[in-house]
Amino acid sequence: IKSKLFVDRTNEIAKIDPRMWGSFTEHLGRSIYEGIYQPDHPTADKDGFRQDVINAVNQLNVPLIRYPGGNFVSAYNWEDGIGPKDQRPTRLDLAWSTIEPNQFGVHEFVKWCQNVNAEPDMAVNLGTRGIDAARNLVEYCNFPKGTYWSDLRRKNGAEEPFNIKVWSLGNEMDGDWQIGHKTASEYGRLAHETAKAMKIVDPSIELVASGSSLRTMPTFGSWEETILDHVYDDVDYLSLHQYYGNEANDLQGFLGKSVDFDGFINDVVAVCDAVKARKHSKKTINLSMDEWNVWYHSHAQDDAQAKWQHAPHLLEDHYNFEDALLVGSLAITLMKHADRVKIGCLAQLVNVIAPIMTETDGGVWFQSIFYPFMQVSQFGQGIALTPRQEVDTYHSADYDVPYTDSMMVYNPDTQEVVVFVENKASEAMDYEVHVDNMQLGQLVEATQFCGYDIKQTNENQEMKIQPLTNVKVDGNLVQSKLQPLSWNMIRVS
Ligand code: AHR
Repeated sequence: IKSKLFVDRTNEIAKIDPRMWGSFTEHLGRSIYEGIYQPDHPTADKDGFRQDVINAVNQLNVPLIRYPGGNFVSAYNWEDGIGPKDQRPTRLDLAWSTIEPNQFGVHEFVKWCQNVNAEPDMAVNLGTRGIDAARNLVEYCNFPKGTYWSDLRRKNGAEEPFNIKVWSLGNEMDGDWQIGHKTASEYGRLAHETAKAMKIVDPSIELVASGSSLRTMPTFGSWEETILDHVYDDVDYLSLHQYYGNEANDLQGFLGKSVDFDGFINDVVAVCDAVKARKHSKKTINLSMDEWNVWYHSHAQDDAQAKWQHAPHLLEDHYNFEDALLVGSLAITLMKHADRVKIGCLAQLVNVIAPIMTETDGGVWFQSIFYPFMQVSQFGQGIALTPRQEVDTYHSADYDVPYTDSMMVYNPDTQEVVVFVENKASEAMDYEVHVDNMQLGQLVEATQFCGYDIKQTNENQEMKIQPLTNVKVDGNLVQSKLQPLSWNMIRVS
């Protein structure tokens, strides 16, 4: 099989917002406790933050982290997580039927973010709470001083405001599983009034409205349209969530889910722009894909978990090689939508459907999905160039799927072009990139991630990014041979 990618330096999609490669940490299972916060761990610092986890997150280069949920936020009282730790209440977490001791809250999160050079994306509770709790939290975090909440923050040890810029208006409010689930009109009204109050407290914040939990939700489309009627002028982004699984054990169908992901983004853009037209608005709503990943391996194990434990092993999917391939191809899909998708959160970051896993009494280990994500977060930066592929397609259960997903970005800071290409075929592939209006220099680095059994997981840390040794660069042509079922990256000066 052959695949050709045609790009023109002058045909730009958009600059990739660095926040595209964000992530998410929720009070869920061992994501916070035994994940990023574990005071009795040998690597913990004086704040109780595991340094081995900080080092691992720093390798992933995540610029933005969404918190504290997820489903958790919809029954959360943020005030429980501030003040002296020995006076914080232990509560039932209704989202995951666990025990929440509130030893980690907004101060700890903001401080931890500073350790990993990430900005917070703070979600407010629009399930059991609303305007009052949300505007107080903005005042607590962002108002300088001289008021009840800002002075309480100072008393609790943070003289300077946190200046949190990105705020999520609730989480998955379209889903019946959500505590305080709402109809689109109910959520739209509440989100509008909450946004209004939050922006009076701090007009500089950016807001994300809660879109559909999955493309397959029965209300998908009408949910977006109705809520945007209410919040169009208040928000900057509309969120999308999407997880995929391979329950059917159908490799080609699973790898073809990137086509579904692409269609989902197109659909949401279409609804946003239809509302824009109807409102005669000059403003464009951008997207925040603030939960995306593979999630299905842990479902049976989670169903068998006893309720009301603290930090149980929940959503601890062990990812295999085919999962890494899908994550790579979803990442390429996000880059193709750099004009509208400005924020992305790989869900999640540590232990819970995560690239990074911790052992309670040991170290950290990296899942298969860590590797493609690390490469896009590091090198998927700069200007995304419009890709035109010439490649055969295969028929999966749902879609016609091109055998490659392929994308080039030009990074003006490093003066490099970087090609990401995934071969979804079970055979090797001749691959070429033809570039117009740009003279290519020299090969800087070429890597491949391949050769593993598709069901292999990475507990033993065998998986590695390997050199791709057969790349030729000549003028405006790049040539290579891609291994079967491989994720590849080629950097050229
Ligand atoms: O990321 C796990 C869960 O998935 C989140 O809590 C929720 O928002 C989604 O359903």
